[in-house]
Amino acid sequence: MTETALDRIEAIGAEAEAAIEGAAGTAELEELRVRYLGRRAELTAILRGIAELPASERGAVGAAGNRARKSLEAAIERRGSALDAGELEARLSEDRVDVTLPGAPPRPVGHVHLITRTTRLIEDTMIGLGYRVMEGPEVEHDYYNFTALNHPPGHPARMLQDTFYVQSDPEVLLRTHTSPVQVRGMESQPPPIFMIAPGKVYRRDSDATHSPMFHQVEGLAVGEGITLADLQGTLDEMLRAIFGGERKARMRPHFFPFTEPSVEFDVSCFQCEGTGALAGGERCNLCKGIGWIEVGGAGMVDPNVLGFVESNGYDPERVQGFAFGMGVERIAMLRHGVPDLRRFFDNDVRVLEQFS
Ligand code: PHE
Repeated sequence: MTETALDRIEAIGAEAEAAIEGAAGTAELEELRVRYLGRRAELTAILRGIAELPASERGAVGAAGNRARKSLEAAIERRGSALDAGELEARLSEDRVDVTLPGAPPRPVGHVHLITRTTRLIEDTMIGLGYRVMEGPEVEHDYYNFTALNHPPGHPARMLQDTFYVQSDPEVLLRTHTSPVQVRGMESQPPPIFMIAPGKVYRRDSDATHSPMFHQVEGLAVGEGITLADLQGTLDEMLRAIFGGERKARMRPHFFPFTEPSVEFDVSCFQCEGTGALAGGERCNLCKGIGWIEVGGAGMVDPNVLGFVESNGYDPERVQGFAFGMGVERIAMLRHGVPDLRRFFDNDVRVLEQFS
C-alpha cells in the first residue's frame, strides 16, 4: 500500500511536471493547477487519506505528498511567470504604439479670413498713428446713416433701390456705409477725436466687384486746426503701410454730402510703380495705364455734420477735421490679385486656404 501510494505520488509528480512545462498559456496552466492540486485531484485525495493509513506509513506518504505538492506549486509559479512575461511581450508587440508618429490624421489648423486680416492690418496701422477703434450697429437708424450726415430728404442714396430698409419701420435700415459711426463716435466723446470704425455695410448691388454685404473702414479726425494737409499725410502713411514702402496718395475732387471739400483718393500703382507701363512697355493691367488706383472717399467733415453733435463739444467754429472711408474687399483684391469679390464669401476652402 505504501509502495503504491509513494509510486502514485511520484508518477503524478512526473506527469504534472511535464504537463506544466508544456502548458501553452496561462489558461491551460490554471486548468492543470485544478487538475493536479485542486480539491478533487488525486494527490489531494492521497494526502486526505493519510489518516487511514497504518501509522508506520503515514510519515513517508505525508512527506512525499507534501513535497510533491510544494514542488508542483513551485513549477506552476515558475511556468506562470514565464507565460505571463511571454503574453505581455506578445501583447506589447501587437499593440505597439509609436509615440514618435504625428497625430493621425494631423489636425488642420485654421486661419483668419483674408477680410479680417486686411481689416486688422488697417487697424494696426491706424492704432500706430494714435487712432482708436470704434464700432457701431449694422442695423442703423436713418438719423445716423443719412440725416446727421447731411443727406437732404430726397437724396438718391436714401432710395429703395440703393438701401435695404427694415420692412416694419421706414426709419430703420441696414447701414449703407460706416460713416454713421462718425456721428456715434462724436456723440460718445468730446474733441479731439481720432477714431476708425471697421465693419459690415449693405447695399443693393451684386456683381464681380460689388456684394450686397461688404466691409468698410471709416476714419475720423476732428480737433483744432486739423487740415486737408493732415488728411494727405495720413492717407500717405496709411497707404504705405497697406500697399508697401514707396506708395503715395492722390486726392481728386469728388462729392459726398457729409464732407466739404470732398475727394476720392487713389494709391500710386504698386505693380507699375505709378508709371502706367510694365517693364516690357505694355500698359499696366492693374491701374489700366493710369498709374493710380482708386481706394476710397474722404474729405473735410462738413460743418453741418458737426452741427448735429455741437452739444457734445463739436463747435464748428472751433474744431474741424477730416474723414475717410474705404472698402476692405477692394483693398484685399488689389493686394492679393483676387479677380472676383464673391470668392471671399463662397467659403470655398481651396480659395481661402491660399491666404493663411
Ligand atoms: N461713406 C462714403 C462711402 O461709403 C465714403 C466716405 C467716408 C467719404 C468718409 C468721405 C468721408 O462711399
